[in-house]
Amino acid sequence: MGITFNEEAGIFKIDAPDTTYMLGIFDDERFVTHLYYGKRIVDTDVNYLYGPVYQVRPSVLPGQAGRIMDTIPFEYPTYGCGDYREHCLEVETLEGYHACDLRYEAHKIYPGKPKLVGLPATFEKEEGECTTLELICRDKTLNLKVTLLYTVFEYLNVITRTVLLTNENEKVIYIKRVLSGCLEFDHQNMDVLTLHGSWERECGPVRTPLRQGKVTTGSTRGESGPTDNPFLAVLDSSATEDVGDVFAMNLVYSGNFLGVAEGHHFRGSRVVMGINPTNFSWKLEQGESFTAPEVVMVYSDQGLGKMSRTFHDLYRRHLIRDVYPDTSRPVLINNWEATYFDFTFEKLTEIAAEAGKCGIELFVLDDGWFGNRNDEKRGLGDWFVNEEKLPGGIGRLSSEINKLGLKFGLWIEPEMVSPDSELFRTHPDWAIQIPGRHRSLFRHQYVLDWSRKEVRDYIYDMIHKVLSSANVEYIKWDMNRTLTETASAALPADRQGELCHRYVLGVYEIMGRLRNDFPSLLLENCSAGGSRFDPGVLYYSPQIWGSDDSDAIERIQIQMGASMCYPLSTIGAHISAVPNHQTGRITSLETRGYIAMAGTFGYELDITKMSDEEKKTIREQVDIYHRYNLLIKDGDLYRIGDPFGNRDYACWMNVSKDKKEALVTYIQTHALPGFFGSARKLRLKGLEEASIYEVKIISESKEVRNEEAHTEGGQELGDTCESLKLSGSALMHAGYWMKRLSGDYMGMLIHLKAE
Ligand code: DGJ
Repeated sequence: MGITFNEEAGIFKIDAPDTTYMLGIFDDERFVTHLYYGKRIVDTDVNYLYGPVYQVRPSVLPGQAGRIMDTIPFEYPTYGCGDYREHCLEVETLEGYHACDLRYEAHKIYPGKPKLVGLPATFEKEEGECTTLELICRDKTLNLKVTLLYTVFEYLNVITRTVLLTNENEKVIYIKRVLSGCLEFDHQNMDVLTLHGSWERECGPVRTPLRQGKVTTGSTRGESGPTDNPFLAVLDSSATEDVGDVFAMNLVYSGNFLGVAEGHHFRGSRVVMGINPTNFSWKLEQGESFTAPEVVMVYSDQGLGKMSRTFHDLYRRHLIRDVYPDTSRPVLINNWEATYFDFTFEKLTEIAAEAGKCGIELFVLDDGWFGNRNDEKRGLGDWFVNEEKLPGGIGRLSSEINKLGLKFGLWIEPEMVSPDSELFRTHPDWAIQIPGRHRSLFRHQYVLDWSRKEVRDYIYDMIHKVLSSANVEYIKWDMNRTLTETASAALPADRQGELCHRYVLGVYEIMGRLRNDFPSLLLENCSAGGSRFDPGVLYYSPQIWGSDDSDAIERIQIQMGASMCYPLSTIGAHISAVPNHQTGRITSLETRGYIAMAGTFGYELDITKMSDEEKKTIREQVDIYHRYNLLIKDGDLYRIGDPFGNRDYACWMNVSKDKKEALVTYIQTHALPGFFGSARKLRLKGLEEASIYEVKIISESKEVRNEEAHTEGGQELGDTCESLKLSGSALMHAGYWMKRLSGDYMGMLIHLKAE
């Protein structure tokens, strides 16, 4: 079993293939302390690691009346008893006192992984994959029971953590802060990696040196948000894609969150992550429990690449419940960038007909099909079809699309209401607002109070009716604004701090009901692009629209950033029209295809306006997708070079688990002049050293070729590489020449097959 307890030493040891995590019961005071996290070790007694901490105590500092709590590496630090570093737990009593002091009480180790009530979480798929440790601590004065839960995935370098608080006092306790996990390190020689951005440029990695002080990431938007993703890693200052220690946290939660890496004054550091304490409070009555969201912790001894592959393996098998588990998901076409709100039944069916001829398999009707929704100013909340626009309703449209040989999918934004809607006129108090205070509009809409069951049920019933009236096989669930002026008409004053968390629990409940009632429905999430891209959402929805920026070149950064912890198969990516609607950039159709294939793959353009040659390319793209998608969906991702700090090219590989096949995507983002020009030799990764691979360029961007410039300087470098046989060792250590491409934004797909 991956978890053992050395009773004599008072030490718990959690082992994964390359990882050891150790915690101890400190001395007769029975504090629970963190001892070690990193590369696997064999020892079961590592009490020596406390070092000087043992000495900083009353008996060796004569005359001192207490212990210096700031020196103790607490496993779950609390506020109020002298540890001034970033803490995980703060509670308030009815009298207004804030202090909590946890001591070990008991523990259980058992096979499997418990479910978290009302919350998404990773799960054991087959017996024997997980072992769990429940460590029970208590604050005796408060009679607050705090259960720390750890699960190790025996074959992955993953440990998950969560916390369960139970009030065993006869009086109410208010939770003011409850984070999910904490890590302690005895040094600061590390960098902090977080994912930041904005609307249309989500998930940009930011690497900051850790010093004394704090690096934070977080959201108070009511959703995980586009500016900060609930991911934080600390890594050796010298760590790269392929070498060095990395310790990463990713929160399985879709609301306000906080991640902090702190270099503290005794030269060590601490990392915490959980629900953001801002505007959070939870009233715990006698006998009640509160469960914090799960934090996933990944340790990699081989840099960021291995960290990402571990997250991908975990999420694909133990978080995502794919409705297409063993096959590719259907190639879709979405009408948003083709028509926006301006569509008719005829226009939609024309698009679907043309798409069907090109092999596209799913037609998605985006925003604008319901109520009086002819623009973004109205209609949200009125989930009944606009028969003026779509005579015969969704039933007629979906059966027409089905007759054309395509599946049918639909857009919804169920958490929102427009002021100009029947729903708002009937139930103005259903929108989140603070009485007497201006209620902010954003994109002309308010957020419904999904902490209220009657509100959720009402919306769900309407959507259920639409879905039952037609053959809908895909839903795009959108969420286009953040929460502001948060208060609920249904909560008393001392529970207003619960609204944001209750809101998220409400979203999870409805997504869960949708999955249960329509088990074969493919659910894609979206929040103005990737503003709610997190593992919590992935539990319900195997894919999330990556960004409202559909520009292929911009998407490289966004998708590679998201791939830090999320598998490519989760990142919604489409080929859109050129000039691109967000940037005005012109990119070849092939290049757009290569980048969209490093995602879910689909189209978002008016296919009826495309030339015959372009439609031929689309047919080829759909064919390539079907031939290689399982490599991308289930294989290992290797980022080549530096995908973020490099203006000249981007390159990544998808390698099958048995290493017999691989697909290399190479995009030249910036053409260079001179003899070598943009030809460059890159070292491939992830292959079998001894295998001989046949290496073939299977597709190459066609447009904007200038043959003269291309051959200037003599030898056509790299042309000899178009079909080669080379060993994995040569490809990985000596490298492979990426042939010189002419022009910016050109690319190619290279296929490797072992003999
Ligand atoms: C925002 C989404 O990200 C877009 O793809 C589109 O669905 C619009 N909302 C529709 O309002």
